[in-house]
Amino acid sequence: MEFADVVRTRTMTRAFSTQPIERELLERLVDLASRAPSAGKSQGFNLVVFEGADTSTFWDVTLPSDERSAFAWPKLLDSPVIALVCADKRAYLERYSEPDKTHTGLGGSEDAWPAPYWTIDAAFSTMLLLGAAHDVGLGSLFFALARGEQELRDTCRIPDEVEILGVVALGWPLESGARKGRSATRPRRTASSILRFRSW
Ligand SMILES: Cc1cc2nc3c(=O)[nH]c(=O)nc-3n(C[C@H](O)[C@H](O)[C@H](O)COP(=O)(O)O)c2cc1C
Repeated sequence: MEFADVVRTRTMTRAFSTQPIERELLERLVDLASRAPSAGKSQGFNLVVFEGADTSTFWDVTLPSDERSAFAWPKLLDSPVIALVCADKRAYLERYSEPDKTHTGLGGSEDAWPAPYWTIDAAFSTMLLLGAAHDVGLGSLFFALARGEQELRDTCRIPDEVEILGVVALGWPLESGARKGRSATRPRRTASSILRFRSW
């Protein structure tokens, strides 16, 4: 697909088939995601992945079975890949402590940072991942980790310094689709409403 077509036709997918995603394909997508810009090339983007039947480990924590009948997107639970999007700030503190970066004063503490570049970089990579997935016919959903974070941290041994920004479900979209998200009918802003030449 042309880049513009990837961007224009991607939408969040909330209904998947159970068909697996081959490791080689997943790695290809993540290789593209790794090409995102990264402050000081620190590259703190990590994905903690559940595959296939093991995705139930994620869902058992985040959507208890007694709540599933009322869940609006039951086929979301069929996605063969669930990835926790993680931003490792330690990579940034280490990188900015290196000789060519010490002048920035950012290596000492995260409080010195004007913005959390680790979350910015992970968001850039995640967007590339969603686009790369769409380009090969996969669907994806980025969604909030609304509950169960500590339990997942314990289960997956995710260090405290690593932020979990959200979750990506990846898989082959079901033709029949699913109910659209609640925000789907909101109009998309126009370029001219976003661009503020010279002044807000
Ligand atoms: C930071 C972020 C958090 C989101 N959280 C959720 C979520 O928890 N559940 C959900 O169904 N969609 C979630 N979405 C998807 C948005 O609703 C969706 O991207 C938006 O409505 C635009 O639709 P589109 O991506 O299909 O174009 C999230 C998107 C972003 C960027």
